Amino acid sequence: MPRVPAVPHVIYGADYNPEQWPPEVWREDVALMREAGVNLVSLGIFSWALLERAPGEFDFAWLDEVMELLHAGGIGVNLATATASPPPWLSTLYPDSRPVTVDGVRLEVGGRQLYCPSHPGFRAHVATLVRAMADRYGTHPAVQLWHVGNEYGCHIDQCYCDTCAVKFRAWLRARYTTLDALNAAWGTAFWSQHYGEWAQIQPPRRAPTYANPTQQLDWRRFSSDNILELYQLEAGILRDVTPDIPVTTNFLGFLPGLDYFEWATHEDVASVDAYPDPAAAHPHLEAGMIFDLTRSLRGGQRWILMEQATSAVNWRAINAPKAPGLTRLLNHQALAHGASGIMYFQWRASKAGAEKYHSALVQHPGPQRTRVWREVVAFGEELRTLTPLLDARVRARVGIVFDWHSRWALELDSKPAQLSLMPLVQAWYAALRQLGQNVDFVHPGGDLGAYDLLVMPNSYLLTDADATNVRAYVQGGGHLVTGFFSGIVDGHEHIGLGGYPASLRDVLGLWVEEWVPLHPDELTHVRFTGAATPVPATTWAEVIHPTGAEVLATFQDGYWQGGPAITRHVSGQGQATYIATQLPEQSLMDVLRGALTDAGMPHTTLPPHLDVTLSETQGGLILHLLNAHRADPVQVTVPGTLHTLDGQPLAQPLTLEPYGVRLVRVPAGFSVADITVVAGRH
Ligand code: GLA
Ligand code: ZN
Repeated sequence: MPRVPAVPHVIYGADYNPEQWPPEVWREDVALMREAGVNLVSLGIFSWALLERAPGEFDFAWLDEVMELLHAGGIGVNLATATASPPPWLSTLYPDSRPVTVDGVRLEVGGRQLYCPSHPGFRAHVATLVRAMADRYGTHPAVQLWHVGNEYGCHIDQCYCDTCAVKFRAWLRARYTTLDALNAAWGTAFWSQHYGEWAQIQPPRRAPTYANPTQQLDWRRFSSDNILELYQLEAGILRDVTPDIPVTTNFLGFLPGLDYFEWATHEDVASVDAYPDPAAAHPHLEAGMIFDLTRSLRGGQRWILMEQATSAVNWRAINAPKAPGLTRLLNHQALAHGASGIMYFQWRASKAGAEKYHSALVQHPGPQRTRVWREVVAFGEELRTLTPLLDARVRARVGIVFDWHSRWALELDSKPAQLSLMPLVQAWYAALRQLGQNVDFVHPGGDLGAYDLLVMPNSYLLTDADATNVRAYVQGGGHLVTGFFSGIVDGHEHIGLGGYPASLRDVLGLWVEEWVPLHPDELTHVRFTGAATPVPATTWAEVIHPTGAEVLATFQDGYWQGGPAITRHVSGQGQATYIATQLPEQSLMDVLRGALTDAGMPHTTLPPHLDVTLSETQGGLILHLLNAHRADPVQVTVPGTLHTLDGQPLAQPLTLEPYGVRLVRVPAGFSVADITVVAGRH
C-alpha cells in the first residue's frame, strides 16, 4: 500500500525556517499559517548547526518549542532529518569530508551541501543526528512525514575525492567481479588503458583529453548509487525507529545527476521541487513535465509538490516574479497532474543570507500587505473545496521513454555531435500535450504494455534487456515512435555493429549507414509523401536503407537527398515509426498525430497555452482545463451536460480567463477529441 500521509485534505504548506527569527515571530507565524490554510510545514531542513552546536552537544529546546507551537495550532510537521547542510565544525573536524571537484579542488565552507557523500566520519554524524531526531520526535503527534536531507545532488552530484575513489573501485568490483570483465566493458584495449590492478582505477578526474566513456558512464552510475546509499542510511534509521511515518526526499524534476527511477523505489511517497521560469514562453509546460515525471516515478501514485516559489526566485540571472494568478494556475496544474500536496519554499522571506531575495508566503513588507499573501490565502481557502481530487487518478495511454543512464551516455563528449536530451524531450512532450494526451514518463525496462503509444525522443543507450523489452512491446501490438540516434549503444556504451541502430533495426525495418549532424544554423529539408512543399528540419540527417519500412518523408538536400527521413514499419502485431531528423513543431505534431490515429487513440489539437488533463475519480471523470495565457481568454465547448466538482450544471461555452481554471465533471465516454476550442486559439 502506498503510504502518503493520511490527511483528509489536500496538503498545503511551506518550508519553515524558524531559526532565522526570534521566538515572538514564531507565534505570529502559527497564527498566520492558520489564516493561510497551511496544514503542513517542512521543518528543520537547515537546522543542523543549531541543533548540534558542537559534536555530540545537542540543543533541541528551541525545536521542541516550535513543534509544540505548531501542534497547538493544528499544523502538521514534515520533519527534516536536518542533515542537508553540515555545520562548520564538521569540516574542521574532518577536513577531508569536504567534496572535491573534477579538477581536484576541495570546496570550502560558506555555502551548503558541503559534504563528500562517502566520508565515514560525516556518515557517522549523520546517523547519530537522524537517530536523535527520530528518537526525540518520532512519537510527536505533529509529525506526519519524514523529509530526508534536501535535494540530494543539487550542488554536489559527484565527489572526486580519494575516499570516493576507493568506493568507486568497490562498486566496480561488485559490478564486474574480475578486472578482465572491466577491461572488456571499458574497451581498454583502446589508447593503452588496460588495467592490471584495481588500485590503478581512478574516478574520471580531469585528464589530458577525453576520458574513457564507459569509465565516465560507470562513474555517473556509481555517483547516483553512492548518494542513494547515503539517503538509505537515513531512511533505514527512520524506518527502524518510526515504521509508521512515511519517508520522502524532495526530488528536483529532471536533475541530471540522480537516477530517480531507482531512487523513487526507496521512498514511500514521491515529492518534488518545481521552479519553472515565469519569464519562459510556456512555464506550464516546464512544470507539467516535472509533475508528470514525479507521478510516473511511483506508478501513478499521488505525490507532493514540496517546493515552488510563490513568486520570484533568487538564482537566475534575472528573476521575474510570477504575475498575479500564475501561482494559482500552476497549483491547479500540479493537482491536475496528480499532486496531493501543494507546498512552497519558503514560509517567511529571509532578511539575511543568499536567499533573501527569494519570494515567500510572508514577504518583506509584512504579512497581509502584499498581493502574494492575498493569493496564497485565497488558494488555501479554495483548496478546501478540492478534496475530491485526492482520490483522482491520472491515467496516461502515452509513455515517453526516459532513462538517466542513456542521458548520461548521450551527453558524454566525443560523439558525432554534442546532443542534449532535454530539448528533444521537451519538444515531444509539448507536441503530445497539444494533441490532448495525458503523458507518463517510463523507463525502457518498465511496464510498457500499459501504453498504447510509446515515444522515444532519444534513447541512445539501450541495454540488451531494455531493447528486448521495447522490441517485445512493438511485436506484441504496441505503437512506437522513435527519434534519431536511438538504440545505438548497449549498457557498456559499445556500438552495435551491422548497421545502426543494431538493437532496433528489426522493428524499424531499416538500417542506417551514415549520420549527418548539422551545424546550429544549418537546415535540411524534409518532404512528406504527397506534400507540395518540404519543411525545414534541423540538427541531424541520415542515410537510411529501408528493409521493409514504408517511407513517409524524404530528405531534400545534400548527398543524402531522396533518402528516407521518416519511416513506418509493421513489426509483429505492432508498428514502429522512425524520425531521422529534428522536425519543426507542426510536423512533429503531424507525425505523432498519425501515430495516435494508427494506435486508435482519440486526439485533438489544442493551443499550447491550454493545459488539458483528464483524471478518473470514483465519482466519474474530471476534465482539468487551465488557460496558461497571461492576456487572452479561451473558450471551449464539450458535447453533453457538464457539471462542477460539486455537481452543479455548467453553462457552455466554458470561458477561461487569462490564467483561468475550470474543473469540469464530464460524462462517461468523454474523450479529448470532444473538446472544441471556440475562441482563444493562436
Ligand atoms: C531549492 C532548495 C531550497 C531553496 C530553494 C530556492 O529548492 O531545496 O532550500 O534553496 O531551492 O529556490
Ligand atoms: Zn568524496
